[in-house]
Amino acid sequence: MAAARGEFSSRFGFVMAAAGSAVGLGNIWGFPTQAASNGGAAFLLVYLVLAFTLAYPVLMAELIIGRFAHSNAVNALRRISPTPASGRVGVSVGVVGIVVASLILSFYAIVAGWMIAFGLSSGANLLGMNALADWLTSFSLSGNLLFMGIFMLMTIGIISAGVGGGIERWSARLMPLLLITLVSLVAYVLTLEGAMDGLKVYLLPDFERALSPKLIIAALGSAFFSLSLGVGTMLIYGSYISDRENLTALGGLVTLVDISIAVTAGFLVLPAMYAALASGVQIFTEGGALISEDTLIFTVLPELFSTMGLAGLIVSITFFFLMSIAALTSSISMLEVPVAFAIEEYGLARKKAVFIIGGLIAVASAVILLNFDTLFGLVVTVTTRYAQPLLGLCFCIFAGWLWRRDAILQELKKGNPEVAQGVFWKIWPWYIRFVCPVIIAAIFVQSLWG
Ligand code: PFF
Repeated sequence: MAAARGEFSSRFGFVMAAAGSAVGLGNIWGFPTQAASNGGAAFLLVYLVLAFTLAYPVLMAELIIGRFAHSNAVNALRRISPTPASGRVGVSVGVVGIVVASLILSFYAIVAGWMIAFGLSSGANLLGMNALADWLTSFSLSGNLLFMGIFMLMTIGIISAGVGGGIERWSARLMPLLLITLVSLVAYVLTLEGAMDGLKVYLLPDFERALSPKLIIAALGSAFFSLSLGVGTMLIYGSYISDRENLTALGGLVTLVDISIAVTAGFLVLPAMYAALASGVQIFTEGGALISEDTLIFTVLPELFSTMGLAGLIVSITFFFLMSIAALTSSISMLEVPVAFAIEEYGLARKKAVFIIGGLIAVASAVILLNFDTLFGLVVTVTTRYAQPLLGLCFCIFAGWLWRRDAILQELKKGNPEVAQGVFWKIWPWYIRFVCPVIIAAIFVQSLWG
């Protein structure tokens, strides 16, 4: 079995794949729009602190467990459990993670479908096909189903090619493209009138807001979602890392790339909003608050683009292309979670597993689309606001309390023989045991009352 498992062929391949999973709509849409509605730099500050102090340690827990077991989360958590009873808990955590990853993909594919449709709409406008362009941005049920389906097919296509030929190859192609596109867009948007006002909002912190419980909960959810934590994605990617690699450095690099891209996306989205304001587009509600996150992307930005004539169409195509790539490198990591499980635990062939599971998730997306008002928000909230931090908490308990500390050290030593003398080993075991669980639990309890 072990011989049939895929492995990332290079450090670059792993970092691109894991950063590709981490960098998604959460970074380019979620983070900047949340920052925009939660006091700009105040949110940025809390997010940075939480990402380094809470999300990075949990990411490391997933990577270490994954590489130790070289298998999916269910089997890995069972293996590191000291007793049969904790093994059963581990199996349940792994299974819940698989369900949550699949549910996240089911709503993610819908949003990604909108990104593709909006990009194509600008293309249609460019070609003078205005009726088609209007239909593409009308959120019609048929359009939503069609583009969700197309996005799922792309995800399925990549995952069916396996770890090296699918995940690694495509992440290594798409991530540099994403970076170039993002930086070019930032450079362009910063030249627009009004952009500097957005920059000010982004960079001047409002400390009173930074300490509000609502903001901290939003930032924690955002940090967990952004690093793809809790659902076994990073664990499964960790399981494909070679034993020669230095895990602490790789995890740090992935966190750094993820945060840098979220922060850079803030330099795009906030200035763009204020540029839109300067060109007469409404960005505040009557009560003076910023309009909601989805309106920002699907109304404000398109309106801004439309004030810019031909250049606007090109910028719009580029922007939605960027969003679609970000979504794709993340969605492949979500689909890999149930697929790896089906291959390893039930002996299914990869292609068969991918088509069956991908098909089922597409059906779940269709059900959400057919009951959009009741289901969409519910699935997003349950999976990202509650399940991800709670599962993250379980990973802390497994890595901090249940797994033998010397086994963890042996695993880390494989690619980094001096790890016991370094800062990481002085802080992390204690951190993942006490600090992370207590803070995640406290924030979670707060959120239930909030
Ligand atoms: N990290 C992705 C984003 O920021 O959009 C979302 C994500 C990917 C969540 C993979 C969960 C996951 F398993």
